[in-house]
Amino acid sequence: MNPPAPAVEASGLRKSFGTVTAVDGIDLVLEPGRIYGLLGPNGSGKTTFIRMLAGLARPTAGKARVLGVEVPDRSLLGRIGYMPQAEAIYPELSAAENLSFFARLEGRMDRGVIDRTLELVELGDRRNTPAMHLSGGMRRRLSLACTLVHEPAVLLLDEPTVGVDPALRAQFWAHFRRLAAAGATILVASHVMDEADRCDELVFVRSGRILVRGTSAEVRARAGTPDLEAAFLHFAGLDAEGRPLAGTDR
Ligand SMILES: Nc1ncnc2c1ncn2[C@@H]1O[C@H](COP(=O)(O)OP(=O)(O)OP(=O)(O)O)[C@@H](O)[C@H]1O
Ligand SMILES: [Mg+2]
Repeated sequence: MNPPAPAVEASGLRKSFGTVTAVDGIDLVLEPGRIYGLLGPNGSGKTTFIRMLAGLARPTAGKARVLGVEVPDRSLLGRIGYMPQAEAIYPELSAAENLSFFARLEGRMDRGVIDRTLELVELGDRRNTPAMHLSGGMRRRLSLACTLVHEPAVLLLDEPTVGVDPALRAQFWAHFRRLAAAGATILVASHVMDEADRCDELVFVRSGRILVRGTSAEVRARAGTPDLEAAFLHFAGLDAEGRPLAGTDR
């Protein structure tokens, strides 16, 4: 049997903003049905990488394919769910109106899917509340719902659970796992190491380049550290108190 076609393929992907190289030649293949964690210090290029995969930023060099189609391409819009790091919901619209806006954008009209998605993020009782009157964590939940409502095959989630309480965070991850089991590919940028531990594979970036890739156990073994928190500091070039180690640049 042939291996499944990759869901995401990046080769030599690069993005510069003036003199700043945010993504510096990333080669990466992601397989369907798996959850990948994208880790790295602030400013290491995670958001820029995700935005290129989502078709929102044009690569300076190199290319990327999502579901076999080179990005950016409008045909991918309905097949990618992108949750931006900064919220992209409409403050004046209610929770349900936001969802129905995003669902319609992707050609989904049925009310059932909107109700199900609102229940999933436990906002069923807030369906008519304007987004600007929701709490910060609730807005984050609504933003995730807008990402999921069209049932995309590839999910690009940029720190999806920031501000989400631990109970709901656990439910989100259970849902991510169900989506992956059903064949979705999930790339999730996170600074939360217990979330990283739930990923099938981790990709650690620094200064726009992939430093290490592997399972949590492999990454910890490479760093020679017992936990991922310490492995993160190791690969970020920091000591146990988060201070730069001598001779490393960030
Ligand atoms: N639109 C932009 N214009 C100029 N520079 C940018 C732009 N977007 C990102 N950068 C720069 O690119 C680099 C990578 O930023 P990016 O947002 O991709 O990092 P990140 O890994 O997502 O960080 P964080 O963990 O803080 O979210 C940073 O130096 C940032 O200042
Ligand atoms: Mg970011």
